[in-house]
Amino acid sequence: MSDEKYIGFARDAWEEAAPIHWKVTQSLLEEIKDPARRDIHGIQIAELSRVGLAQARVAQLNCNNGCELITIKRLGASRCVGFDIAEGFISQARELAAAADADCEFVCCDAYKVPAGFDGGFDIVVVTAGAIWFMPDLMRYFQVARRLLAPGGILNIYESHPITTMFELDRDRGHAPPKMLYSYFDDEPRRHETGLDYQGDTTYQAKPVFKFRHKLSDVLMACIEAGFVIERFVEHDQDPSRSIQSFEELAIKPPLSFLLTARAVDASANPSQPD
Ligand SMILES: C[S@@+](CC[C@H](N)C(=O)[O-])C[C@H]1O[C@@H](n2cnc3c(N)ncnc32)[C@H](O)[C@@H]1O
Repeated sequence: MSDEKYIGFARDAWEEAAPIHWKVTQSLLEEIKDPARRDIHGIQIAELSRVGLAQARVAQLNCNNGCELITIKRLGASRCVGFDIAEGFISQARELAAAADADCEFVCCDAYKVPAGFDGGFDIVVVTAGAIWFMPDLMRYFQVARRLLAPGGILNIYESHPITTMFELDRDRGHAPPKMLYSYFDDEPRRHETGLDYQGDTTYQAKPVFKFRHKLSDVLMACIEAGFVIERFVEHDQDPSRSIQSFEELAIKPPLSFLLTARAVDASANPSQPD
């Protein structure tokens, strides 16, 4: 199947999920008014603070309902723009930003087709948990991040560790012990039809969506090949997706997430030539 077709399936499945999430998340319209509220994992906040959020221009790919970007705005960023393919989530993001009185902009588009008018306009591009698995081509995805960044800009990702895709999710496992179901090296996209309700944790007969199996080496190589230098890479024992959170309590456990910070290589720089 072509990438375009996969993306079409993802758009429809996420549009279907938006009102289902809203049943749970509309309480955020009140909760988000609290300026002390934080909707990004502490690990990613710490790294973004280290990199420097004050007055930074920040873009977020796959921004969903915008809560994470609203937190970034509150942490001192200047211009904040979120991109997501689902109109349903973009309209929730706009409502939530208005409720939070946070000056964020939200654009509905396929991440691969972010309009060229945004190119070079950001100091940081942020990707949070649950985004990369819906992107069929990681290298193209990071190339978009690359073109959005001003010279020397930063790509920051905090995401579930690829090794976690080998396991059955908590919600499908009941209280049974973790079960390893898939080979790490199985790179066939995985079709899901039980829904995308990670907010209410319900399942439903859903429009199909495909999740892509990106290995850690795929992530790193796509990042390098898209024109980044990796500055920081850390594996963590916390599950930002909350879909295998029970693993956090295990004495013997795999890595559950990774943090990656990479700097855009300045394409116009003239590296010194060997004599
Ligand atoms: C799991 S959510 C994002 C993660 C965010 N950390 C959260 O928990 O809300 C994945 C998001 O990716 C978006 N998405 C999927 N495919 C996309 C694409 N091709 N372009 C832009 N957004 C896409 C979906 O609409 C959805 O909002």
